[in-house]
Amino acid sequence: MRGRCGHQAKKRAAWAAATDVVFVAACMPRISPARAALSDAAAAENKTQAVHRWVPWIAGYSADFVRDALDAYLPLRRRAEALVLDPFAGVATTLVEALKAGCDAVGYDVNAWPVLAARAKLQCVDVPPERFGAEIAEFRTALAQFEVEVDRRWAADGDDGIAEVMRHHGLARPPAFRSRIPLFGAPVEAKFLFALGRLAVLPSPDQLLFRAALGASLIAVSNYSYEPSLSTRPSAGKALVRNASVVLPLGQKLQEMLADCVWASERYGPVWRGRRREVQHRSYFTSDLAPGSVALLLTSPPYMNNYHYVRNTRPQLHWLDLLSRPGELREYEEANFGKFWQTVRQAPAIAACFDLPPLQALIERLRGLSAEKGPYGGPGWANYVTSYFNDTGRLLATMRPQLAPGAAAIIVVGNSIIQGIEFQVDQLLAELAPAYGLRVEEVRIVRTKRVGNSIIGSSVRNGSSPGPKMQLYDAAVILRG
Ligand SMILES: C[S@@+](CC[C@H](N)C(=O)[O-])C[C@H]1O[C@@H](n2cnc3c(N)ncnc32)[C@H](O)[C@@H]1O
Repeated sequence: MRGRCGHQAKKRAAWAAATDVVFVAACMPRISPARAALSDAAAAENKTQAVHRWVPWIAGYSADFVRDALDAYLPLRRRAEALVLDPFAGVATTLVEALKAGCDAVGYDVNAWPVLAARAKLQCVDVPPERFGAEIAEFRTALAQFEVEVDRRWAADGDDGIAEVMRHHGLARPPAFRSRIPLFGAPVEAKFLFALGRLAVLPSPDQLLFRAALGASLIAVSNYSYEPSLSTRPSAGKALVRNASVVLPLGQKLQEMLADCVWASERYGPVWRGRRREVQHRSYFTSDLAPGSVALLLTSPPYMNNYHYVRNTRPQLHWLDLLSRPGELREYEEANFGKFWQTVRQAPAIAACFDLPPLQALIERLRGLSAEKGPYGGPGWANYVTSYFNDTGRLLATMRPQLAPGAAAIIVVGNSIIQGIEFQVDQLLAELAPAYGLRVEEVRIVRTKRVGNSIIGSSVRNGSSPGPKMQLYDAAVILRG
């Protein structure tokens, strides 16, 4: 066993061998009928809500869910003084709603693309709408003219014509970006790079909003799609995008953002401008928030489903020039909560830094499954699950001192099924919490039909023998400091 926690491993292995435990956490009350209902956590409805709709994000939760949580766990009279924290902020669903409720809002994210999107949202009241409108009009005109030139050259001379346009305008694709097939068709690439180049002259924070719009529109005009992981369009049964307008979807997105900026400025401008509103681009595990400063923590860390945020955001990170040094993506992977199966499967058995015998027994069972496949069998998956719960412990240890006395922490997680073994992450998290000085108030199911249900029949999920079907769900674990 490697790592600091190796001394517990023997004890654990013996315990696991002596028992064939299927973990059922029975002690936590799952639903409290006395409390106000929390909305379904599904994020799909964010697509229709002002500001939230700017940039879609995988595995976020809904703004309605956040509003309900604020209402239930942060009394109105305390909001003016309250700091709401989201350690895994994504595209700022929590932070935007916290500001709307009149609170300070602080978030963290390791990935520069959601950080950019989140900052654009938090700064939307700082963009004078008239100036933004004029910039959009000018930008659309310039890009539309460029598109006419590109389409003409493409029709006349194909790729050679586009190469000449690129040379003439000094456009170059990001040198470090690699993909299985070209990210863009040649004319789309020229249009996208021209649009990006135009942003350099814009003032701050207007430029941030334009960049968020470009990042949000990028995949729709590319040869890739989210299914929900990033894959080539042909592998998802879709045709390549040989040529397309960039100005049309982008112009539409910018108009939508302008309308939301007007709305947000009129409704919230003076309040937001006086509030603390920030997203720090770093791992929450390095957070130095003052002890006792957080009135409510509301978050959803990456789920134990191995969704590879870093790989899935490579196009935005490279093409919006968000990477500043070689090896940065690797650093993101290392810092990501729970790690990724791809980065831990090869390692010697990773030691658990938590003391929860039923979980340790489950992990040992997993380790023994298809052991002959090594990193691709139980041993690789056991490393992944162990890393995930090691980071769960780090989360609890980091947040505990930051919570004000009695403050609530609401952590939304999903269960996971690996090689036929169900990990009830909500129940396990609740079992771990008391060891970090946190009281478990409730574990509440907030969604029973999660995206990804279709993959629980796969061999990774269910192992080689089909067995009974298990359901994926989301649950809010409600803790108190
Ligand atoms: C499930 S998403 C959060 C979505 C968010 N609730 C929303 O609605 O937009 C999890 C986020 O955690 C981020 N993340 C992963 N590891 C992190 C770490 N160690 N510190 C901060 N953020 C991290 C990922 O980049 C991802 O954006």
